[in-house]
Amino acid sequence: MTPKHPSESLTILTDMVLPSETNALHNLFGGELLARMDRAASISAGRHSRQVSVTASVNHVAFNKAIALGSVVIIEAKVSRAFKTSMEIYIDVWVEDRESGERTKANEAIYTFVAVDATGKPVEVPQIIPETKLEIHRYDDALRRKQLSLVLAGKMKPEEATELKALFV
Ligand SMILES: CC(C)(COP(=O)(O)OP(=O)(O)OC[C@H]1O[C@@H](n2cnc3c(N)ncnc32)[C@H](O)[C@@H]1OP(=O)(O)O)[C@@H](O)C(=O)NCCC(=O)NCCS
Repeated sequence: MTPKHPSESLTILTDMVLPSETNALHNLFGGELLARMDRAASISAGRHSRQVSVTASVNHVAFNKAIALGSVVIIEAKVSRAFKTSMEIYIDVWVEDRESGERTKANEAIYTFVAVDATGKPVEVPQIIPETKLEIHRYDDALRRKQLSLVLAGKMKPEEATELKALFV
């Protein structure tokens, strides 16, 4: 399988915040953002694998800044690392100032998707070759995040998470 670059799975969703998508403070409802990020990540995983891909886990979400009603929201998703059948998708969320066009980073998230066949059985995906400094950094850290996610899900024994353990010694 020919390896791919993260840029080949880049997915950008641009949308605005409507009243029905806000909380009592008139900011974007967290669950709405999670759904939008899941959609972008799903397209990104599909572009990388060219297979149906399902959300296996949400590894990290940081709601650092509230996003106000009427904001223009840009969600950028890219595969940061591919393993055997799973892919880590790194998502950056930006808010665009309507007048200046300036973008401010609002949130980020990391999802794991698994490529599956018609019966739902995991299938292999192409490997990733990171290119930019940021892509290389995210690629390098992805194995630790995978191990942490598997340990928390009870699918890996902590003593087997060698890359993760190296962080603490
Ligand atoms: C995701 C799913 C296909 C994994 O199936 P599984 O039987 O656990 O398959 P495996 O154990 O072979 O795992 C497949 C891959 O997923 C990875 N994986 C499974 N659970 C994971 C988790 N919690 N975190 C990170 N990776 C995970 C495994 O490490 C493996 O990766 P690799 O092949 O790249 O090494 C299966 O659990 C599923 O279909 N879940 C429902 C998905 C869904 O419907 N999502 C939408 C929610 S509404």
